[in-house]
Amino acid sequence: MRAKVETGIAGLDDILYGGIPKGNVVMVEGPPGTGKTTMGMQYLIKGAQKNEPGIYITFEETPEQIAENMSNYEWDINILEESNLIKIVSFSPQIVHEDMLSTSGIFEKMIRSFNCQRIVIDSISLIKYLNKEESNVRELIYSLRNILHKHSLTALLINEEIDTNINIHSIENFVVDGIIQMSYQFLNENIRSYVLEVIKMRGTKISNYQHNYLLTDKGIHIIPSYVSGEIDRDLRKKPQEIIPTGIQKLDELLLGGVARGETFLIETDSLTTLYKLILVSISSQRIKKGEKFLYSLSIATTIEEFINIFKRYNIDLVKELENDQGLFIEHFRRSVLKEIESKVANVTSMTNEEYWNFLNEHIRYEVNKDKLEDKYWFTSYDINTILIKRGKEFLYSIYGELLALVKSLSITTLMHCNVDTVDKEILSLLESKSDGIIKIWSDVRYQYLQIIKSPLNINSKPFIIETINEYPFIELS
Ligand SMILES: Nc1ncnc2c1ncn2[C@@H]1O[C@H](COP(=O)(O)OP(=O)(O)OP(=O)(O)O)[C@@H](O)[C@H]1O
Ligand SMILES: [Mg+2]
Repeated sequence: MRAKVETGIAGLDDILYGGIPKGNVVMVEGPPGTGKTTMGMQYLIKGAQKNEPGIYITFEETPEQIAENMSNYEWDINILEESNLIKIVSFSPQIVHEDMLSTSGIFEKMIRSFNCQRIVIDSISLIKYLNKEESNVRELIYSLRNILHKHSLTALLINEEIDTNINIHSIENFVVDGIIQMSYQFLNENIRSYVLEVIKMRGTKISNYQHNYLLTDKGIHIIPSYVSGEIDRDLRKKPQEIIPTGIQKLDELLLGGVARGETFLIETDSLTTLYKLILVSISSQRIKKGEKFLYSLSIATTIEEFINIFKRYNIDLVKELENDQGLFIEHFRRSVLKEIESKVANVTSMTNEEYWNFLNEHIRYEVNKDKLEDKYWFTSYDINTILIKRGKEFLYSIYGELLALVKSLSITTLMHCNVDTVDKEILSLLESKSDGIIKIWSDVRYQYLQIIKSPLNINSKPFIIETINEYPFIELS
C-alpha cells in the first residue's frame, strides 16, 4: 500500500482510510463559501504541525488577505510562517500560465527552494479562464500535474467550477489523481447543511457516501457516514460504545447491551404491557451515560406516565428536559406540564412533508452539533402512531431514509410496534431494517420475551418476563 499523507482534517482521514496517498494531485471542487480555502489552509497547518512544510499559492488574493480571511479560525498562521513551515505566495495567473508553458521554471525553483511536501493552489479556475482554447487548458493542467508529481508533492488544486452535473469527464478531472467535491443545501432559510464526497482517489479505497461537515472555529469537521455495509464498518476505528439495558439476562443475551448507533425493534402484541418497562430500562441506562433523547410519544403513553415510570428508574425526566437533555414529539393534542412546554414539539398541525423536514432538520442539526462534543443521542418511535397519524405510504417513503440518517449519526434507535395491527408488508420492512428484534407477547398467564434477531446473530429461546419489586423491576427466567 502507498504511504499516506494524513490531512489531519477531522473525519477526512477516516473516509480516505488513513489519508491522501502520497504524491496525489487532488482537485477540491465546490461553489463559493463551501470552505475550500479553509480546507486548503487546514491541510497545510496540519502538515506544519507534523513538520511537513507546505506552500499556499493564491492568485486572487494577497497573502495578507488570505491570512486575514483565515483569522476567524483558531490558527496562528504567522508563527508557522516565521518558522518556515508555511509559505503563502501570491502569483499572477499570467505568470504561472507562461511559466508552465515555457521552461523558465520560476514555479519549480520556488518549490525546490522551500523543500515543501504539501502544496495548495487556490484556485486553478482563474488559470482556466485565461485560456479560451481547451487544448491549452489541458496542456497547462497536465504540465502542472507533472511538476507536482516530479517533486512528489501531495497537492490540493482548488476549483470553483460549479458544475451541476458531476463533471467527471472534464479534462482536469481526468488528469488529477483525486476529486473531492464540497456542496451545501439549505435546510431552511438559515441553516445550511454541508456535504462532502470523495469522487475518486487513486491508490486507496474510499467510502462511497456523502458525508456531512461543519465549519467550526477549528476549521472543517467532517462527520463520516457510517451507513451499514461492509466497507463502512471498516471505518469504525474504535468499537462503538455498548450500553447495558439494565436487565441482566437481556445484557447477557446481547453480549453487553445495545451498541451506539444500532436500531432495535421491539415487537409486541396488544395485550403486553411489560414492554414499557423494558423500553424505559434501556432508555434510562442511556440517559445515565449522558446520552440525549428524542422521544416520539404514542397514543398509549402520555408524558406524565413516562415521567412516572422513569422516576422508578431514578431518572428525573423533567430535570433532564430542563437541562436540555431531550425532546418529546407529541402527535396528539394533550395537555403538557408548564415547565417542559418548550421541550415538547407538537407536530399535530404539520403536513407529512413538514413533519419529515422537521425530523430531518432537527436530527441533522442538533445531533451533528452535539457529536462534536462527543455527546450522543438515542431515539424512540412508536410505529403504530406514525401509521395512524401519517399513513402507510408515508412510512414506506421515509423509513429507509430515516434509518440511514440515524445510523449515519450513530443515533441508537428503539422502534416499538404492536404487530397485531400492522400488515405483513410493513412488518417485513421494519424487521429487515433493524439490527435487532426483541419479540414480546402474552398468553392468559404470562408475558414472554425472545430475541429473534441480533447484531451478532445470537437468537434466544423464549423467556418468561417476571415482575419483581426492586430495580430493574423485571426479570427474565
Ligand atoms: N470560525 C468559523 N466558524 C464557522 N464558519 C466560519 C468560520 N470562519 C469562517 N467561516 C465561514 O466559512 C465559510 C467558508 O469559507 P472559505 O473561504 O473557506 O470558502 P471557499 O469555498 O474558499 O469560498 P470561495 O469560493 O468564495 O473562495 C465562509 O462562509 C465563512 O463565513
Ligand atoms: Mg476560497
